[in-house]
Amino acid sequence: MTKGLLISFEGPDGAGKTTVLERVLPSLQADLTANVLATREPGGIEIAERIREVILDVKHTRMDNKTELLLYMAARRQHMVEKIMPALTEGSLVLVDRFIDSSMAYQGYGRGLNKSAITWLNAYVTDERQPDLTLYFDVPAEVGLERITRNKKREINRLDLEELDMHQRVRQGYQELAQQNPERIRCIDATQPLDSVVTEVVEQILLLVKDS
Ligand code: TMP
Repeated sequence: MTKGLLISFEGPDGAGKTTVLERVLPSLQADLTANVLATREPGGIEIAERIREVILDVKHTRMDNKTELLLYMAARRQHMVEKIMPALTEGSLVLVDRFIDSSMAYQGYGRGLNKSAITWLNAYVTDERQPDLTLYFDVPAEVGLERITRNKKREINRLDLEELDMHQRVRQGYQELAQQNPERIRCIDATQPLDSVVTEVVEQILLLVKDS
């Protein structure tokens, strides 16, 4: 692999993408010669983790939707500049838990904010660097929310507390994004047993690395 590759993991809350990422990381690190780095949004570095705390604090019920969007974008910008771009320049394989499609699915489809503005902001903060591959973990909103309530170890954040119809709009948003970007976004059925999902994800990533 001569250049870095960026792979984003996307999906509604409770789709299991974080668990899958944790499971695939050691096997990729063992199989690949390139450095493999896992990170997340919002977060991944100190400034963005602090922005994350502000966005997701359950006490912040008065947060305006555009303020929320801009905070996600600010966190993304800092994360790009401080961590993702340097790692890609060094030739690393970067796995990011949520990225540009989360803003479109949650703030665009979920909150109903202007989609052209989100497309523009995403391009602006990433200097137009798109993921080389996006793995979209598809699960019905009800199943995702049920998993979150069962998973006692997971923090419940401000967005988890949104009504079911917001989560349904988010899923519909992801499905439309997958249809609009078939070369970049691969849809994975996240209702399958975890082991099958992990196997499929490792295969997809190794395929991309081999072709690059
Ligand atoms: P996480 O639970 O996957 O760590 O993500 C935190 C929450 O932030 C999740 O509910 C999705 C939401 N989110 C957005 O609404 N917009 C974004 O741009 C990102 C990155 C996350």
